[in-house]
Amino acid sequence: MSEEAIVSIAERFGIKVRGIIKIRNGIYRVNTSKGKSYSLKRMSKRLSRLRWIDRVLLRVRNSGPRLAWRNPQTSEGRKPYVFSNKGDPYVLTRWISGRIPSPRSLSDMRSCGVALARFHVAGRAALKGKFANSMIGTWHSTFINRHRDLQRKIAKAKRNGYSPPISRFLQQHGLEVLHYSNQARALLRNSGYRSYCNRALQTGVLTHGDGGPSNFILNAEGTHLIDFETLCVDLRAYDLYRVIFNSCKDYHWDFAIAKAILNGYRQVAKIRKTDYDLIQVWLRFPQTTCLVLSSSDRFPLNKSWLQWALASERRIGSFLQQLHKYASRHSS
Ligand SMILES: Nc1ncnc2c1ncn2[C@@H]1O[C@H](COP(=O)(O)OP(=O)(O)O)[C@@H](O)[C@H]1O
Ligand SMILES: [Mg+2]
Repeated sequence: MSEEAIVSIAERFGIKVRGIIKIRNGIYRVNTSKGKSYSLKRMSKRLSRLRWIDRVLLRVRNSGPRLAWRNPQTSEGRKPYVFSNKGDPYVLTRWISGRIPSPRSLSDMRSCGVALARFHVAGRAALKGKFANSMIGTWHSTFINRHRDLQRKIAKAKRNGYSPPISRFLQQHGLEVLHYSNQARALLRNSGYRSYCNRALQTGVLTHGDGGPSNFILNAEGTHLIDFETLCVDLRAYDLYRVIFNSCKDYHWDFAIAKAILNGYRQVAKIRKTDYDLIQVWLRFPQTTCLVLSSSDRFPLNKSWLQWALASERRIGSFLQQLHKYASRHSS
């Protein structure tokens, strides 16, 4: 999109634009002539969902957690969104100056755990028992679909449907990867998932859906959450899994990182045995391999990334044993 088009969208929020920095397609940092900074982001076209996100986040913010979302008391925060010429809705939020947390810092990780738990506590109150956009009860079918997708890709490798090194790699290790996926499904079947879902009114929380170092910002005010496109209602275990996965995957699955996140969370809210069991289900699914098989700029599909992913899947085995020990010491 041209710079003029971005300026025009931003100015319809009532701000005077001085400069624009593109973060990626659809996300811009906008500086104003008054020296303020905002993030302008294209959201998905599903307006009913965007309105729900807006409604719930305004309620959550009133009860304390620090979120990058509009403030309706300011002139630029009056409109929840404006449309581009193509009909895409854009949201404008304050730019939070600060730094993203580092998984190398256990104190940063603990702060993320605290912030996530505060978000869950405030989110429960904001939902007021009305569970729109709920993912509760969907996990079995999610895992079945992902398993089938893996099976299809491994069958393609058997037919030498990928380049020779990738086909050979999957012919050699495909069964091991499918085994991890089967283990995840067995863990789900043997967890308390169904009864947890049946008690959704007590167990459901407002779920960020994409927690991880890049969606927290730390500064002197505290720990902020950003990026709410995936907001939904689900179980707390999903968010804890996401934060643990995104924080540990590039750091050799060092359990100390997860421990700091969980310790932080437990400072604010309880984690029950079923929560740990459900975190384990997600961690055991070979998601790192799936990321590489889906090929992106960040995780290109080639042999060395596949080797990296397989090494991660193997490390997760001992990581889960450590999680199990932690859970038996700390579950309530
Ligand atoms: N309001 C904000 N304040 C500070 N940084 C932001 C803000 N919005 C986005 N960013 C920066 O831009 C990056 C991408 O934005 P994000 O909304 O997380 O998009 P994505 O969907 O690509 O994850 C973030 O990781 C963060 O570094
Ligand atoms: Mg993000």
